[in-house]
Amino acid sequence: MSYGVYPWSNSLAINQDKLNEIIAKFAVELGASAQGPAILIGEQLGLYKALSAHGPFTPEELAKKTGTAERYIREWLAGQAAGGYVNYNAATGKYMMTPEQAFVLANEDSPVYIPGAFYLVSSIYKDRGKLADVFRTGKGMGWHEHHNDLFIGTHKFFRPGYLANLVNSWLPSLEGVVEKLKAGALVADVGCGYGSSTIIMAKAFPKSKFVGYDYHLESIEWAKNVAVTEDVWRNTTFEVALAKDYPRNEFDLVTFFDCLHDMGDPVGAAKHVHQSLKPDGTWMIVEPYSNESLEENLNPVGRIFYNASSMVCVPCSLAQEVGLALGAQAGDSKIHEVVSLGGFKTFRRATQTPFNRIFEARP
Ligand SMILES: C[S@@+](CC[C@H](N)C(=O)[O-])C[C@H]1O[C@@H](n2cnc3c(N)ncnc32)[C@H](O)[C@@H]1O
Repeated sequence: MSYGVYPWSNSLAINQDKLNEIIAKFAVELGASAQGPAILIGEQLGLYKALSAHGPFTPEELAKKTGTAERYIREWLAGQAAGGYVNYNAATGKYMMTPEQAFVLANEDSPVYIPGAFYLVSSIYKDRGKLADVFRTGKGMGWHEHHNDLFIGTHKFFRPGYLANLVNSWLPSLEGVVEKLKAGALVADVGCGYGSSTIIMAKAFPKSKFVGYDYHLESIEWAKNVAVTEDVWRNTTFEVALAKDYPRNEFDLVTFFDCLHDMGDPVGAAKHVHQSLKPDGTWMIVEPYSNESLEENLNPVGRIFYNASSMVCVPCSLAQEVGLALGAQAGDSKIHEVVSLGGFKTFRRATQTPFNRIFEARP
């Protein structure tokens, strides 16, 4: 589509086609950005769930079903249809969702449930002022200093991937770990946040004992409550602790889900993990998917991670001692270096998904 001819552009040696190409790209980008809050409203008010489970609906019917105001829902649905998130039938005036649209937008347990990610993005918008300050000063901004949407977004976005992969694929990719977990092992889940990974493992392996550690008090309080509601409190505890000084040793398995690169001193953390493991124990490190070089990461997944990294991961690390700031796109060789400096003898990428790398390190 042409967005017009710009007479002044000739004097700037601007190619009209290339200009139209970039404007077309931004028409999509702006639409997606404006749609972010609309996705969150759909999630919060149960609009996607109601439409996918009970639709097709007119705006009036959806509003009635969800206890919302028809005029808002009419406009919201039009925006959703323009974005391709729901389908509109002009003959009936009704909207519906395909199974694929519902899988992504309405099913919280689906491995590709996406609305959670928009809470994460929402936190970045809300923290923009503080972030601009640290971009100037070079100071850090701790995990705990972010808006609450970051914590809920991390939980909602990461949990579906853990549900789909952790027990079925990631743990079995580690040597001898599932057998130990079935028999009864001691596990530390470090940097556990809201504890989604801890709770999924605790449910799957009732004979094992799990301790979730995180330095963020609010997250630990949340995780403690969920352990009760999810009925895993018998074999699961949550404690406030840093990766460098969590108590106990003799762990069979220590897990780090998407947090090693957020730490100020990942080498210090690696050394601590090393001394906390049994000699035949395993350290499982889950890190965002990344290739080795920056140029190989210049793609849609790399784009998500570099942006999240500059506004969440790098500031989190810079707020802590050492401030190594690995970033969310540290390649395998950088992670290997950190793990080796921690004293680990073996290291390998055990498996991966389009969004995650799963590493196994052994003492
Ligand atoms: C991206 S979140 C991942 C949370 C959780 N593992 C998950 O996958 O849902 C990173 C977590 O690391 C925690 N964290 C950062 N630095 C830490 C440190 N030095 N010691 C312990 N936890 C830390 C943060 O508080 C946050 O909960």
